[in-house]
Amino acid sequence: MSKLLEVKNLKTYFYTDDGIARAVDDVSYDIDRGETLGLVGESGCGKSVSALSIMRLIPDPPGKIVGGEILFKGKDIVKMTEEEVEDMRGNDIAMIFQEPMTSLNPVFTCGDQIDEAVMLHQKVSKEEARKRSIEMLRLVGIPAPEQRYREYPHQLSGGLRQRVMIAMALSCNPEILIADEPTTALDVTVQAQILELIKKLQDELGMGVIMITHDLGVIAEVTNRVAVMYASKVVEYSTSEEIFYNPKHPYTLGLLSSIPKLNKGQGRLSTIEGNVPAATNYPQGCHFCTRCKYVDSKVYTQDSKCWNEEPKLEQVDGVSVLHTVACHYWRDIAMKRQKEGDVIPAAAV
Ligand SMILES: Nc1ncnc2c1ncn2[C@@H]1O[C@H](COP(=O)(O)OP(=O)(O)O)[C@@H](O)[C@H]1O
Ligand SMILES: [Mg+2]
Repeated sequence: MSKLLEVKNLKTYFYTDDGIARAVDDVSYDIDRGETLGLVGESGCGKSVSALSIMRLIPDPPGKIVGGEILFKGKDIVKMTEEEVEDMRGNDIAMIFQEPMTSLNPVFTCGDQIDEAVMLHQKVSKEEARKRSIEMLRLVGIPAPEQRYREYPHQLSGGLRQRVMIAMALSCNPEILIADEPTTALDVTVQAQILELIKKLQDELGMGVIMITHDLGVIAEVTNRVAVMYASKVVEYSTSEEIFYNPKHPYTLGLLSSIPKLNKGQGRLSTIEGNVPAATNYPQGCHFCTRCKYVDSKVYTQDSKCWNEEPKLEQVDGVSVLHTVACHYWRDIAMKRQKEGDVIPAAAV
């Protein structure tokens, strides 16, 4: 049987006045039923654009999917007609966005908006839709759902609004839920509740979930696998265990070292210096070379491979699961770190 979703060599570019923004460039990942994939990386790395490509929500112009396939149960979403896409959206694959206030319409009650999502895809009466909406509000843990159903988005807290968004996304029993930074706008305790909720619903409903975040710490407990994205590329891909306990890519190492709760008592919370380059202006070799702390170290001697040659994903040796990393010098870096007694942050918890 084919995988639930396979993104294969996806390329999504934007044709702007500043040149071609290669937002997503040759990205592959997949997800199965009942599985959660974490898509991690700083802001501007192409996480949302890859998700919006799956939903076929890339604004065209200036954007376009210029290469690759997105197979949902073997059928290529890239090639679907507009009609097929509309049927797929919400029904098969649903997405929740970062800021619920911008996705909820302030002039309609929460109930009306979930009803509408239900009726868009299912042939049910208004009354049946109402019952289903209230049931969904209860499912996502909203107290007094009958009352909340009649309220407007502004009457709800941020956490409750995000729950309404989740209820709306789940109202048509999608097989895949894409959660794009679903907790970023929320405070820490509410964040934890929402993540727990998504995990619980996934267990109950058996969906595949793509959890997008800029914070590796957020997803340690909820994902099965992780794709680390940097500047339009997947730079490391494996099980969550491998990513947290046996990371290889300098970027993944940097992200892990900047998680406060994993670095408790270690005294040195580092951040990765510099910024993600603009998508119109990536280095021609490794996209991370402008920020990589190993670039100038002895690891590289006189080589300028990092600057000129794009590293391809390759399997990490000595590991029995799929674990790929795109760095010319991951072996040398691992050796150097071992010699220096560099503790893997997550392993030090
Ligand atoms: N409509 C657009 N026009 C031009 N560039 C865009 C557009 N949308 C996104 N991009 C660019 O694509 C890159 C990836 O963006 P995005 O996927 O939103 O990042 P992330 O979700 O990882 O923060 C960024 O460099 C961003 O500027
Ligand atoms: Mg984003």
